[in-house]
Amino acid sequence: MQTVHSVAQVREHVRDWHNKGHSVGFVPTMGNLHEGHISLIHEARARCDVVVVSIFVNPTQFGPNEDFDRYPRTLDADAAALVEAGADLLFAPSVDEMYPLGQNQTWVDVYQLGDYLCGASREGHFRGVTTVVSKLLNIVQPDVAVFGEKDFQQLAILRRMCEELLFPVKIVGAATSRETDGLARSSRNGFLSDSERTLAPQLYAHLQQVKANIDSGDKDYRALETRIRESLDTAGFSVDYFSIANARTLASAGPDDTHLIVAVAAKLGSTRLIDNISLAVVRDW
Ligand code: PAF
Repeated sequence: MQTVHSVAQVREHVRDWHNKGHSVGFVPTMGNLHEGHISLIHEARARCDVVVVSIFVNPTQFGPNEDFDRYPRTLDADAAALVEAGADLLFAPSVDEMYPLGQNQTWVDVYQLGDYLCGASREGHFRGVTTVVSKLLNIVQPDVAVFGEKDFQQLAILRRMCEELLFPVKIVGAATSRETDGLARSSRNGFLSDSERTLAPQLYAHLQQVKANIDSGDKDYRALETRIRESLDTAGFSVDYFSIANARTLASAGPDDTHLIVAVAAKLGSTRLIDNISLAVVRDW
């Protein structure tokens, strides 16, 4: 595996692969790779002849009071993990390489889908994500790009962006990778203290509780959200949102919706965790 830092180098490699008729899979990341990322790389590997991974901690998707500065940067360990995972090319650009004119004047924004869930409390976050992913897709020009379902809203927004802007790429969502106690794998899990780490799997346990309630016919979603939010707050979380939403629009779900996403964001100490599950509601009438 080669590591390159410039746009020109990536383009050279990809042009060469495409000329040889190879399909190119792409996994964009912010590094500090864990098993969740590796599962995305395996997904890309299974679908394509070669796999490109990017590592770039993108400043424009962090708000002024968020964890950009303390976001873990572990490039050497990440490169070793990528060799092991069978990646072909690592693209690790600098901020100047990705934002060559300094402050961006061109932004890509997806409306509506970005208004709910994380978009409601992280102003500008998704605009930063869609802008940097547009740049990365323009650079790598992959046939397939793989994103984790743990970031369900991000995945929905990126799918919409690629469809509406006619990016010639297939967007693939890969299942959330979990620790044995159910906690969704995330680079931010490393910030948790021992006691917070013990508490953290409660997030997934509450999602499972909602699934059980809905499976047994509970359709009063607003009351269910309130109960679960209170239970998480009592357990020691500081809940940002707990939402039973329509999986397509991400707006609050009503009793007639058949495809739901149950999504949560909550802080333990200063660490913000997110998780979700998808549910198909079977109508009994
Ligand atoms: O999910 C992430 O790690 C980031 O949001 C992404 C897609 C790499 C864009 O910076």
